[in-house]
Amino acid sequence: MNIVETPAELRALCDRVRAGGARVGFVPTMGALHAGHLALVHEAKKHAEFVVVSIFVNPTQFGPNEDFSRYPRTFADDRARCEEAGVDAIFAPAADAIYAPGDETRVSVGVTAQHLCGAHRPGHFEGVCTVVAKLFGLVGPSVAVFGRKDYQQWRVLLRMTNDLMLPVQVMGLPTVREPDGLAMSSRNRYLSESERERALSLARGLSRAVRAFDEGERRAEVLRREVLALVEPAADVVDYVAVADPDRVVPFEDGALVGERALVAIALKIGATRLIDNVVLGEEPAPIRS
Ligand code: PAJ
Repeated sequence: MNIVETPAELRALCDRVRAGGARVGFVPTMGALHAGHLALVHEAKKHAEFVVVSIFVNPTQFGPNEDFSRYPRTFADDRARCEEAGVDAIFAPAADAIYAPGDETRVSVGVTAQHLCGAHRPGHFEGVCTVVAKLFGLVGPSVAVFGRKDYQQWRVLLRMTNDLMLPVQVMGLPTVREPDGLAMSSRNRYLSESERERALSLARGLSRAVRAFDEGERRAEVLRREVLALVEPAADVVDYVAVADPDRVVPFEDGALVGERALVAIALKIGATRLIDNVVLGEEPAPIRS
């Protein structure tokens, strides 16, 4: 497995791979890797002979009061997991290799990035798109694999790739969960035992929405309130519970009926830890089956 730290080396390596006729698959991450990330690697390996994982805690997607400096950095462990998963190269650059002195260009995002996390984390999706565009330019992947755990991120990146006509296929994989339903996340390691128990409220809330939808409930506001009633007592702060159009990521108006599919997304804080989760009604099973 290659460990690459500079953009020039990465570009040269991927150029050589493509010149040899192999396809490059790409999985961008911020490290602290878990089984959710590794599922993306396994998918990438189905579509490409050479798989690159980037590990870069991207400063531009964090707000001033967010967890950039305390975000978990576990390189030795990440490296071992990548090796075991059959990754061909890890790209782990320094921040000033990606944002060199004088760097000023940013990808501007639109409606898909406006609501949900976009409304609560100003500049977040601009930072995500900017770093992913840079990484796409260095790697030249034919396929890039993302998780639907970050549903809005996946939709925003699909939009960017389409709008900027980037020659890469963007895939979105289902959320990988712990046996009890908790969505895997690098931030779960911040949780104490009692916080982790409260964190199950996300999966419980989403499961309640799935059951209500399966029983025929189509009123967006009723679905939203059902979820809110379950998560509110468990959370310290609820950023949002949203019922939205799954393609545009625009919330339904109060009084609207959802269609065949609807995104239910939650963002909340338990202690200092911000957690997100979602399910697409009409498409995915309940995170907790009962
Ligand atoms: P990170 O949070 O490390 O996630 C990297 C990728 O793993 C994302 O595509 C995310 O959706 C996916 N992922 C995380 N948890 C998952 C789970 N439980 N099941 C399935 N997929 C999961 O997302 C980022 O990093 C960054 O914003 C990045 C795209 C790398 C840009 O900096």
